[in-house]
Amino acid sequence: MNKAKVLVARSIFPETIARLEEHFEVESNQGDQGWSKAQLIDKLKGKQGAFTTGSERIDAEVLAACPELKICANMAVGYNNFDVDAMTARGVLATNAPDVLTETTADFGFALLMATARRITESEHFLRAGKWEKWSYDMFAGSDIHGSTLGIIGMGRIGQGIARRGALGFGMKVIYHNRSRLDPQLEAECKASYVSKQDLLKTADHIVLVVPYTPASHHTIGAAELALMKPTATLVNIARGGIVDDAALAAALRDKRIAAAGLDVFEGEPKVHPDLLQVPNVVLTPHIASATVPTRRAMADLAADNLIGFLVHDKPVTPLNPAVLASK
Ligand code: GLV
Repeated sequence: MNKAKVLVARSIFPETIARLEEHFEVESNQGDQGWSKAQLIDKLKGKQGAFTTGSERIDAEVLAACPELKICANMAVGYNNFDVDAMTARGVLATNAPDVLTETTADFGFALLMATARRITESEHFLRAGKWEKWSYDMFAGSDIHGSTLGIIGMGRIGQGIARRGALGFGMKVIYHNRSRLDPQLEAECKASYVSKQDLLKTADHIVLVVPYTPASHHTIGAAELALMKPTATLVNIARGGIVDDAALAAALRDKRIAAAGLDVFEGEPKVHPDLLQVPNVVLTPHIASATVPTRRAMADLAADNLIGFLVHDKPVTPLNPAVLASK
């Protein structure tokens, strides 16, 4: 039987490629070249499967040009790079990589929160620049994590992991806002109380954003929301670029309307809004919340499992549009 053809759109573990090659004819981008949309289409033509990351946009134009495509397996839990409706309409299966990164990403959310509130990178830059000549009582004085109020916007699995860390590890009061309220047992486990977005913005000492990006969540935090926050508050975004209006945030940080921010994701990344680069009270990291070696391996394995599961055994592991399976 002819092997199905699969495109691996970005550089990935050689072991992942070797595993895919046991089942498929694989073309991979191990040189990690940045492809334009036209180049992506060109490479995808004639392929039945694609191993993608959050950076490859799979939309109606790509799908129309690649009618042989049957599955795109994203090595990410977020999948705003997929037009899932267009994929379903074309009978193309979409899969993502949930669960395997939950705890690693929650760890990182907490690390970024602590670095932000305790001004860790700002003080390190000061030290490295040779500016530390004497100690002073208010040098890099930040805000406390323990005992403070943590507000989480987006209470999926990662949000719940952050809530547990805050409540159980640091004695924080945890409030959250989400499209739907968690069931009472889960709320009790996370020690989290549901509040309106407005109340969360007004009362939280630290706000962590973990909502998926959709047109409805675009600029969940903009100038109006920043104006409601406490001047001592910190804001952390580990969700997606576009959830925060980065220009409005840079202005709020510059004018000290909020104390500090920690950002792992950016509108238009890998570009970063130039105003953010000018303000000292922001910790910036290059979209690495799930980046531990074991977790990145688990994510790659899951994307490969989905390709093999679907194209070889008709059984994907984490389908996003199972209607495609039903209609086969
Ligand atoms: C990372 O941002 C992911 O969605 O997995």
